[in-house]
Amino acid sequence: MNYSIVYSSVTGNTAKLAEAINNHLGASYVGKPSNEALNADVIFVGFWATKNSCSADIQAFIEKLTNKKVFIFGTVGYDNTDAYFEEILNNVKALVPASNTIIGAYACQGKVSEKKQEQLREAVPEKYEAIKNNLAESVHHPNEKDIDGLLSAVKAAI
Ligand SMILES: Cc1cc2nc3c(=O)[nH]c(=O)nc-3n(C[C@H](O)[C@H](O)[C@H](O)COP(=O)(O)O)c2cc1C
Repeated sequence: MNYSIVYSSVTGNTAKLAEAINNHLGASYVGKPSNEALNADVIFVGFWATKNSCSADIQAFIEKLTNKKVFIFGTVGYDNTDAYFEEILNNVKALVPASNTIIGAYACQGKVSEKKQEQLREAVPEKYEAIKNNLAESVHHPNEKDIDGLLSAVKAAI
């Protein structure tokens, strides 16, 4: 089986997940969204959360997928609950065109950068107050347990 791993990662969290998948499977393409990645039958698509979904580059890539097996993975910063992971994963899954098959999905928390935390504190203080404990927790992720969870989900899908 031929695998591609396509991901976006600004501060390295999602890149850690992509690297773990690649160490496990050995993909023929690992990197940013690219048409070259479309040569594989199974495509792992990795995102970092923004506005409760994925970034525009990943959205544009997902919209190009046709007749692929797709595994969605991502890191999110603002909460560390299964309900939150599921909500964001569902938003990203909803972008996958109907000709594809979603074979699995996984999300975990990822460290929110100092810069983004500072920006939240200044621009939306109520929101910052409400999630500041979650932001503090985020610095410990993705950790070994998160990577184990990812690899279990990958093994269940492949
Ligand atoms: C501009 C910006 C917007 C973000 N929006 C969200 C969001 O809506 N929900 C969330 O849970 N995390 C949000 N985050 C946190 C990141 O998704 C999270 O820290 C992620 O692990 C970053 O992954 P990366 O290191 O691969 O870039 C945001 C971060 C930035 C910089």
